[in-house]
Amino acid sequence: MNAMGWEHLTEPDLRGRTLVMTGASDGLGREAALRLAHWGARLILPVRSRSKGEAVVSRLRRETGREDAAQLTRLDLADLGSVREGAEEITRAVGDSGIDCLLHVAGMVTRRREETADGFERMLAVNALGPLLLTELLRPSVHGRIVLVTSDAHRFGRIDASDPHFRRGGWSLRAVYGRSKLTAMLWGLDLAERLRGTGTELQLVHPGWVLTNLQNATGSARLDSLVTDVTRPFAMTAEQGAAPVLFAATQPLPHGSYIGPDGRGALRGRPTFLPRSKAALDLDHAREVTDWALAEVGLR
Ligand SMILES: NC(=O)c1ccc[n+]([C@@H]2O[C@H](COP(=O)([O-])OP(=O)(O)OC[C@H]3O[C@@H](n4cnc5c(N)ncnc54)[C@H](OP(=O)(O)O)[C@@H]3O)[C@@H](O)[C@H]2O)c1
Repeated sequence: MNAMGWEHLTEPDLRGRTLVMTGASDGLGREAALRLAHWGARLILPVRSRSKGEAVVSRLRRETGREDAAQLTRLDLADLGSVREGAEEITRAVGDSGIDCLLHVAGMVTRRREETADGFERMLAVNALGPLLLTELLRPSVHGRIVLVTSDAHRFGRIDASDPHFRRGGWSLRAVYGRSKLTAMLWGLDLAERLRGTGTELQLVHPGWVLTNLQNATGSARLDSLVTDVTRPFAMTAEQGAAPVLFAATQPLPHGSYIGPDGRGALRGRPTFLPRSKAALDLDHAREVTDWALAEVGLR
């Protein structure tokens, strides 16, 4: 029995439901996908690594005994062209059923400043701008819920409209990761307002402190494994970290909630409602940031 995991959730019946989830090739997304498939969902999994994705799909089909448990599509969130093609492929894969739940779990960190082919700071592209474009393109097909995995790291994010991609300096992993997650929180706040009354819900999620690949950011495999060993007693496993995502995707919740672990500092624990930072609740700023982001991805 895993006290911080999904076992205490009311088990949903997801038979006949179509879920689209990014980030299922690794980490807590893979654990969430396994559980959702066990609960009967049909999963469309957009991934950037075909081989990692195929391993997950084989496991889901084997463990559930269902061929329709999972299907891969291609998606690189760091590339706007790939997101556009990916949205079309997802729409074809989903077919007439539409999307009951769209889950954005994919995310990443880099050790130094990198730019995507579109000229974006890479973390901002993958953690915020790519998911925003994908959501806008898929919105006509979504008729249930949108779940956006952000992070409590949004608390140390600052938006600088004059230099959103850190071209003039000031780059640090903490500053950019924080900005990318605050951008996602603000875009999520704006989207929740736009979705009000449409029947589609939006939920935001902070998974907690979870031991996954995301922690492997030192650039040295030995140091990464040392950090993992030292932090193991304090952080959650990927299975435990999947619980807030499963909670946000399947439980009855007020529209626009922010979900995460109930322990000290929201680092670990059972899923509950979390407060968000004051900056992440500023609706006027959320509209400005969303307008900027929509223009960046070519939708304005
Ligand atoms: N772990 C934590 O403590 C923690 C805390 C707060 C928030 N989060 C958030 O939780 C989410 C899941 O992270 P995790 O901890 O499970 O990390 P992870 O193990 O590194 O998994 C990240 C997932 O995102 C995918 N991804 C990365 N870049 C992508 C791209 N350009 N296009 C498409 N997919 C891409 C990865 O695909 P590949 O397999 O191809 O790499 C992988 O499936 C992220 O949004 C992260 O920011 C995590």
